[in-house]
Amino acid sequence: MAYSKTDITKALETITAPGEGKSLVESEAIKNIVTFEKEIIVDVTIANPSLQAKKKVEVEIMKAIHQHVDQKADVKVNVTSETKNEPFKPEKPKVPGIKNIIAIASGKGGVGKSTITSNMAISLQKMGFKVGILDADVYGPSTHLMFDVANARPLSIEIDGRSKMQPVESYGVKILSLGFFTDANQAVIWRGAMASKALNQMIFDAHWGELDFLLIDLPPGTGDIHLSIVQAVPITGAVIVSTPQNIALADAKKGVAMFQQENINVPVLGIVENMSYFTPAELPDNKYYIFGKDGAKNLAEDIDTAFLGEVPLVQSIREAGDVGHPVALQENTPLENAFAEITKNTLSELVKRNDDLPPTEVVRITTMSGCSS
Ligand SMILES: Nc1ncnc2c1ncn2[C@@H]1O[C@H](COP(=O)(O)OP(=O)(O)OP(=O)(O)O)[C@@H](O)[C@H]1O
Ligand SMILES: [Mg+2]
Repeated sequence: MAYSKTDITKALETITAPGEGKSLVESEAIKNIVTFEKEIIVDVTIANPSLQAKKKVEVEIMKAIHQHVDQKADVKVNVTSETKNEPFKPEKPKVPGIKNIIAIASGKGGVGKSTITSNMAISLQKMGFKVGILDADVYGPSTHLMFDVANARPLSIEIDGRSKMQPVESYGVKILSLGFFTDANQAVIWRGAMASKALNQMIFDAHWGELDFLLIDLPPGTGDIHLSIVQAVPITGAVIVSTPQNIALADAKKGVAMFQQENINVPVLGIVENMSYFTPAELPDNKYYIFGKDGAKNLAEDIDTAFLGEVPLVQSIREAGDVGHPVALQENTPLENAFAEITKNTLSELVKRNDDLPPTEVVRITTMSGCSS
């Protein structure tokens, strides 16, 4: 259970805003409170830009929350300073040239986010869309492997006098991955702020050109790092991946809850079920529901979100991923169709959501060309 924002606000009322004689709440210094499970993130803006003043407010907020709400709360405070007549701008910036940003998330690790992302990118590309993938997995990026560009490095090019990163292209998909910048044999410890800064650079300081879709392959989990990422990047909608297994579904539910948080408010486009069943090659009519049956379908119904489709557990999907040649590239196969179906369902949800929520440009399904199924 997340903490109550009313309790947090009450705790913050006990703190006097520096130089104001009023509480932080009364002086409207508190811009945003996000709660998720044991985590509380407070965005606060003060007039004094000195590091000392910022640190003091941060410590006071942490103390007040620990004293009045919960000793064990995991509190993060973002302090910014601004002059009084500059309005606070909470809107996320739009990215020039990129029409839609879709985040692929799961909660649980290893359920197939990167596999779904890479194959969806291929389906979109085959449908005639311009597609990019941003691999945001701080724990273990894999897109560069799945697209067979592990040894490539993004070039730096000069655009309008500024140096920009050029995404690496493979199978017609533009790719930037944290994997291009980190040593695979070295553990990199990321903090939320570092991860969102790196991602911001890969979005805003890169030369993506015109893209209909930028897919962001998120790391597993729903912690601080994810909150930072989804707050920093203007995501049009999120796709949640889960296996039908209860433990994965519980985490998928947390993933959905994270996106639907007030103040994060990223529309969840729906749920993809991966590893739905296994069919052995020698018994093509048999389906074995190894992780349970219809789990993600039922979850989608329960939480009133769309079910975007299912992908069976198939050896060739794993093999294709390992050799860097996504399975959706293979023409006229049931798997190519399965990924095309998921992609089409995602697009129709995106169109619906974009009609309701105006901030990012809509790509109409009617613009598809060369769709194979
Ligand atoms: N439907 C499938 N059939 C067979 N193998 C699969 C399937 N989906 C994923 N895999 C394999 O399972 C492994 C994990 O998949 P993947 O890397 O896509 O998961 P992930 O959710 O991105 O993991 P992480 O949380 O570590 O980022 C990979 O080896 C992948 O090839
Ligand atoms: Mg992954």
